[in-house]
Amino acid sequence: MKPKLWPPYFRHYRVNRIHWGDIRQIASLERAVFLEPLALNRIWRYYLSRRCGYLVVKDGRAVIAYFGFELCGGYAHVIANVTHPTYRKQGLATFVLTAAEPWAKAMGALAFLGEVRKSNVGQLRVLHSIGWTDVIMIPAFFGNGEDAQIVMKVFS
Ligand SMILES: CC(C)(COP(=O)(O)OP(=O)(O)OC[C@H]1O[C@@H](n2cnc3c(N)ncnc32)[C@H](O)[C@@H]1OP(=O)(O)O)[C@@H](O)C(=O)NCCC(=O)NCCS
Repeated sequence: MKPKLWPPYFRHYRVNRIHWGDIRQIASLERAVFLEPLALNRIWRYYLSRRCGYLVVKDGRAVIAYFGFELCGGYAHVIANVTHPTYRKQGLATFVLTAAEPWAKAMGALAFLGEVRKSNVGQLRVLHSIGWTDVIMIPAFFGNGEDAQIVMKVFS
């Protein structure tokens, strides 16, 4: 199931599959950056699921970026994509998202599909720069009433 040329490198960082020891750090990053963070037990469920892919980038033992997705039919539905605040705007989100593509493809997905808050200009900019496209805006999708931009990347 591992794609060829795995694991890819970016500067001295390497992207790799999540290890169970990363889960607490991911839960803590979720709480730090999201209005609706995933609970620890939910991340554990994703970790244990064969339908999910979770990729992390680490600096030593510290998780500095991650991306999770879950297979739903032919889609790889985005769970979350986060870069640690100290490590932003260095290309890490671009790196982990790009590295996840062959992984999701190898698991049988034809495309990524995700929901991004309308206000999340940073994430939309990252995604557009690597070929994701806007599909439709769904009003009041999120818990606080914010609209979601549905985004998609069809694999080549
Ligand atoms: C969105 C997020 C993942 C971006 O991570 P990142 O590692 O900083 O992104 P990158 O360094 O790969 O950025 C790639 C490009 O997007 C741009 N970009 C990134 N964040 C941006 C921001 N807040 N505003 C404007 N542009 C931004 C970068 O400048 C870069 O553009 P360039 O190639 O022209 O220089 C990060 O800000 C984050 O974790 N946010 C909180 C969690 C979140 O909202 N996740 C998305 C929903 S799941």
